[in-house]
Amino acid sequence: YQENRLTMEPSKKYVFEYKGYYFGVETTPEYVASLEDFEIKDNDVFLVTYPKSGTVWTQNILSLIMHEGHRNGTENMETMDRIPWIEYNVKNMDYGTLPEPRVFATHLPYYLVPRGLKNKRALLCLLVVLQVIYVSRNPKDVLVSYYYFSKYMNSVEEIPDFNLFMERFLAGKVLGSSWLDHIAGWYNHAEDFNILFLTYEDMKKDLRSAVLKICNFLGKKLSEEEVDSVVRQATFENMKKDPRANYESLPDDVVAKDKGSFLRKGTVGDWKNTMTVAQSERFDKFMKEKMKSLSIKFVWDMNEDN
Ligand code: PPS
Repeated sequence: YQENRLTMEPSKKYVFEYKGYYFGVETTPEYVASLEDFEIKDNDVFLVTYPKSGTVWTQNILSLIMHEGHRNGTENMETMDRIPWIEYNVKNMDYGTLPEPRVFATHLPYYLVPRGLKNKRALLCLLVVLQVIYVSRNPKDVLVSYYYFSKYMNSVEEIPDFNLFMERFLAGKVLGSSWLDHIAGWYNHAEDFNILFLTYEDMKKDLRSAVLKICNFLGKKLSEEEVDSVVRQATFENMKKDPRANYESLPDDVVAKDKGSFLRKGTVGDWKNTMTVAQSERFDKFMKEKMKSLSIKFVWDMNEDN
């Protein structure tokens, strides 16, 4: 685009590239490579997202569903410890000894996940295996959420100029690489996995239905009251107040608390408050034609008639 090519390159201080995908430097190429042989258990669950698509929200829902509403002596355990990031093991946890069923969060592209995750698919007719939940969000909201997150999260390179941030996002020159490649990869290889696709917008529109879909997929039978409780605890307002779910205990060297929060706005269509008409048109020009190949209809605005 109009920017100097050099400024399009993400800083090596923040990311490294491994097999065509940008990872944050909190992990290493060696560790990421080792994940291919990561031992999968039949009842593992993987929550997969492109960054800023509703990961923490779905992590919290899964934690409430799978870990019985924060009971059993783990009441104060934070979501990020219950459902750790597989490729960023920042706390050096022994993932082999996590209580089962283990639930992991990940931003990995389909081609870098543990090999065992694919192989399990063949066993599906014999076993009930819990596998992958993929959550997507309309990419303009992802972009805007990501832009503000880069100011807040110290480990993410801050690009104050929104235009430049957008160009990097479109070119896949950010942690997580190309949004389009990520989502197209997972959708096009859906048959390799036991996978449930959800969208942020559907969750926003009808959280209860999304919770029931997840329960159904995971074979979890919750009572009406339990479902109500999950839904209540997973609203934006309640998560924002919940110290286990709001990520506010992150230390000052990790986040710039005066510059935002993990749970920022939690709405659909907020991109309109940041993107100019020209930026939105530029985005559409780049993205919309390419998005036609995806079998998903995105909701760009909650008032949209879809
Ligand atoms: S990350 O860093 O990739 O894990 O970020 P991620 O959790 O995927 O995305 C963060 C955005 O999700 C919003 N969020 C929610 N929206 C609605 N309801 C609930 N309960 C909820 N929890 C998190 C969060 O606010 C971020 O979006 P923005 O648009 O920035 O507010």
